[in-house]
Amino acid sequence: MRLNQPITQRVNDSMRDDEWICSKTDAKGIITYANEVFCRVAGYAEAELIGQPHNIVRHPDMPLIAFAWCWDTIEQGKEWDGLVKNRCKNGDTYWVDVRMTPEFDENGKITGYFAVRRKPTPKQCQDAEALYKQLRDAEGSLETRKNLTRAQIFTMYKNSPLYALAHPEA
Ligand SMILES: Cc1cc2nc3c(=O)[nH]c(=O)nc-3n(C[C@H](O)[C@H](O)[C@H](O)COP(=O)(O)O)c2cc1C
Repeated sequence: MRLNQPITQRVNDSMRDDEWICSKTDAKGIITYANEVFCRVAGYAEAELIGQPHNIVRHPDMPLIAFAWCWDTIEQGKEWDGLVKNRCKNGDTYWVDVRMTPEFDENGKITGYFAVRRKPTPKQCQDAEALYKQLRDAEGSLETRKNLTRAQIFTMYKNSPLYALAHPEA
């Protein structure tokens, strides 16, 4: 887990209800496109985002297994919807209601992903905050979480109820 610091207690809710935060990545999650709303809300210039891994906006409060679930879903070529707490460049928080969608070449191979995000309601944010705290607490201290390997995170995810959501046939 990339540990982005510092974290403030301020919430940036400057995104309007009629706006979308949009980004595109390559197949590894490196940002290839960021729209103006993304840059404005996250507090980055476009040039600071393009070419960076998307965990540049990762908030340490997001549970590890949430992103394991997300990647396990989109790498199967499916769409993933979720509530994500993000970190602005200055450490503030912005919440998004995101849909991530894979893009394919003519042979059906995934070439990248795009994400569109609306502003969630305060209730959605409160509910997600409570759920993510439970999931995070089960993952251990920040120090523990920071040092877990991808394999360890995947095992935790596989043993969680989230796995069945990405593998309904299993
Ligand atoms: C199209 C796309 C959009 C993404 N958007 C976000 C995002 O807004 N916030 C975020 O924290 N991670 C986002 N991710 C997931 C990151 O790639 C990464 O898995 C996550 O930040 C966890 O990072 P970590 O491996 O450092 O824990 C996105 C991934 C893709 C493919």
